[in-house]
Amino acid sequence: MTTTATINTVPATAAREISRRRTFAIISHPDAGKTTLTEKLLLYGGAIGLAGSVTSKKEEQSTSSDWMAMEKERGISVSSTVLQFEYKDRCVNLLDTPGHHDFSEDTYRVLSAVDAAVMVIDAGKGVEPQTLKLFDVCRQRGVPIFVFVNKMDRPSRAPLELIDELEEVLKLAPAPVNWPLGDGPRFRGVYDRSKDEVHLFERTTGGAFKAPLEVAGIEDDKVREALSDDLYEAVTSEVEMLDGLTEPLDIERVLAGEQMPIYFGSAMNNFGVENMLESFLEMAPEPAGRVSDEKMVAPETNNFSGFVFKIQANMNPRHRDRAVFVRIVSGIFERDMQVIDQRTGKKVRLSNAQKLFGQDRETLDTAYAGDILALVGNYNFLIGDTLTSDPKVVYNEMPRFTPECFTYIVNNDTANIKRYRAGMEQLMKEGVAQAYNVHGSMRAVPLLGAVGPLQFEVLQARLISEYQVETRLEHSPWSVVQWFEENVPDTMRRDSDPPEVKLPSGCSVARDQDGNWVVLLSSQYMVSVLHDRNDHLTFR
Ligand code: G4P
Repeated sequence: MTTTATINTVPATAAREISRRRTFAIISHPDAGKTTLTEKLLLYGGAIGLAGSVTSKKEEQSTSSDWMAMEKERGISVSSTVLQFEYKDRCVNLLDTPGHHDFSEDTYRVLSAVDAAVMVIDAGKGVEPQTLKLFDVCRQRGVPIFVFVNKMDRPSRAPLELIDELEEVLKLAPAPVNWPLGDGPRFRGVYDRSKDEVHLFERTTGGAFKAPLEVAGIEDDKVREALSDDLYEAVTSEVEMLDGLTEPLDIERVLAGEQMPIYFGSAMNNFGVENMLESFLEMAPEPAGRVSDEKMVAPETNNFSGFVFKIQANMNPRHRDRAVFVRIVSGIFERDMQVIDQRTGKKVRLSNAQKLFGQDRETLDTAYAGDILALVGNYNFLIGDTLTSDPKVVYNEMPRFTPECFTYIVNNDTANIKRYRAGMEQLMKEGVAQAYNVHGSMRAVPLLGAVGPLQFEVLQARLISEYQVETRLEHSPWSVVQWFEENVPDTMRRDSDPPEVKLPSGCSVARDQDGNWVVLLSSQYMVSVLHDRNDHLTFR
């Protein structure tokens, strides 16, 4: 059972700073509009003056949350960015996440650092596979979900059908906060159910500026004029039906992960974006604590603590360095403070924390629980490390994901061997892929495993751009990994030799980068053969 420890708390001013923080991520299936929505939230948050429409990715201009050449070329976001902005009395930390399936391990790690998630759904497509996977991670972590049904300016599925599907697939009670007035070219705005107000929007060129907005009551003549008679009828009857079909919005239930607020809009046209942002920030939870040794460490605890959820080197060619991202769980960060890295037991001075905004950065002197620190420099931290001023606190927040693709990345020119090794070591530390040493293999390079093959392309691209090392991929016969232990007392385990395993054909024994034994297999079918033959082993 988790208990809350008696705590020494931060001063009242810092407690106020913590309670006004909202830390969240936007998640979606690729192409649903996550990048567009991120950009538009920044536009409304005053963090950028003019949103370059996302089509600009094609024109090779970067959005504020997009920095790598590869991201621009492919029009996908490879690495997660952290953006902080003020909106009214809130201090918002928005963590961008890569949408592509192959980068989902990075996304999963980011989700460990947030307190809420906005899930973007394409109104024409509904719930898509990646949405569902990400949703499952949020559910496991107890992260409340807010849904933004995007692209209402395109022909969409019927809104009632969409909320039915969301309820059926996600198993959460839907609570539409607003309701769309039409779809496609007839999409004119949204009706805010909580305020009983209609928001009529005007389109702006490419959605670069905030959408002009007119607010009126649903009975207002302006609203009747803006909608055709049949649309007006349809909207008013749907709005009436909703009261019977859905539960009233209940913040407690949202935060308990039982109900999802739903917003309709069009990120590209800025329709419904501000409405969503305001309502989301009213409901989104304050920074949550984390469990250490079965005790909840509250954010306002005086002792500083946090955990590393992401490492990224060479984010910006202008600053060749390495950023370690830390979610602050409790207390106050102050520049030059000393913390313990619980993995090594060493004391480390945190002298260079920065606030990043795309490619821009500034030195950070103070930060609070809920914030994300980007520690820049030669810090020897690894993903999952707990940094704390309280030696009793250790977090265990970082799950490892099972790779589904395996390959060898081979250096093309032996003259580059030092740079190849340095690059591989750094990229493994960042968790771009997982390394395995295959038992008895004559190869000089480790086998690499990743959730998807595009991750290997990222690795190769980064080896070229950051370490000037050309590599090639070499095929491996495996696609499944199984961790195992021998069913013997710890004292009988010999660390150096592999335990005896009756291997099906084509399978091999290997060690992961933490020294644990695994079996590599060519197909899922072989897993049952392996299990049947090895009663003396426990598979994880
Ligand atoms: P992602 O990060 O979730 O992958 O999606 P992203 O924002 O990049 O959006 C994917 C595409 O969808 C983009 O088009 C973007 O302009 C478009 N889009 C986003 N929001 C809306 C919206 O509200 N309405 C409409 N109609 N489109 C939207 P693209 O990649 O440039 O391709 P194209 O559609 O211009 O050909």
